[in-house]
Amino acid sequence: MRQKYVVTHKILTTAGFCVNFASTIGLMKVKTLGEFVIERQSDFPFATGELTRLLSDISIAAKIVNREVNKAGLVDILGAQGSENMSGEAQQKLDVYANNQFMSALMAGGEVCGFASEEEDNFISFNGAISKSGKYVVLIDPLDGSSNIDVNVSIGTIFSIYRRLSLSGGATLEDFLQKGTEQAAAGYIIYGSSTMMVYTTGNGVNGFTLDPSIGEFCLSHPDITIPNKGIIYSINEGNYVHFPEGVKRYIKYTQEEDLKTQRPYTSRYIGSLVADFHRNMLKGGVYLYPETAKSPKGKLRLLYECNPLAFIAEQAGGMASNGTKRILDIEPKELHQKTPLYIGSSSMVEKIEEFLERHLELSGK
Ligand code: AHG
Ligand code: MN
Ligand code: MN
Repeated sequence: MRQKYVVTHKILTTAGFCVNFASTIGLMKVKTLGEFVIERQSDFPFATGELTRLLSDISIAAKIVNREVNKAGLVDILGAQGSENMSGEAQQKLDVYANNQFMSALMAGGEVCGFASEEEDNFISFNGAISKSGKYVVLIDPLDGSSNIDVNVSIGTIFSIYRRLSLSGGATLEDFLQKGTEQAAAGYIIYGSSTMMVYTTGNGVNGFTLDPSIGEFCLSHPDITIPNKGIIYSINEGNYVHFPEGVKRYIKYTQEEDLKTQRPYTSRYIGSLVADFHRNMLKGGVYLYPETAKSPKGKLRLLYECNPLAFIAEQAGGMASNGTKRILDIEPKELHQKTPLYIGSSSMVEKIEEFLERHLELSGK
């Protein structure tokens, strides 16, 4: 019989594709996402396994969405759906497909009593006999980076999980309008050159790469931490004329020559928040989406995009701010609320806050 070895932290970190690497050397025992979440269940006193099952439901739906994303060019799933979401954005067929997949997986699972999505006008209360006693609600951006679907560029899914506040029956609006600090778990899936799921339950951040040959997410990036400093900034500079003065000055700062701080920095913008965030988290960097003339409150959605990524950023040692305030401390007033977002390496987010404060008057505020 072949001897099995426990995978060490160092090997996993550098291996990336744990199973492929394992099969190359034929020795290692890989850890699947399922095994990992069960192992971590003991982090929560009195845990009864619902959150574990909920994360598992999400990972299964993610695999189904991944399958469709991968054959997007082959079947009639590309292109516009012919409808708009609450933010007035054209829905792509995959937006709607992914939304329906996650919703039905969660509805069938029984751990969730309600669901809110960027693609739905209102929250959905699951009133089935099992679901209505579910302890959790899920908020989701089912397909992030929709404009990149048709052109074979990385896209993602972002999710946020809260314990319900209502005591029984279907979900209520107050279950969804909780501050980001109250999240029980948050994560994202990136459908990129490989497919990964990254999540936190408030005890650090771990990343799992999908090995298509066995259909399992395998622990490939344990204990992810964001470098405190980075040299990458990500922003849609096409909107430059509309940025607050502090952001304009920060962009100029990133482009100046200074050996000590490794400037000029590198500009990288994919246009899929998940992909830009993921890269910056691994390499160090900052993502900016300020308010603009077209989107005076910012473009990104507090509940579906900013809060979950802010939770992950902080758990990895980074920061997330709306320019003056911690994202996780914002009191949500409505489901589709938007906010400016500055997220990534702590020292870079702090620097942006400094610029914004210093040039507030010039921005006319
Ligand atoms: P979504 O596809 O879920 O609507 O999100 C798109 C978001 C985000 O992923 C991305 O970073 C940003 O919009 C890009 O916006 P611009 O095209 O205005 O740069
Ligand atoms: Mn999005
Ligand atoms: Mn979306």
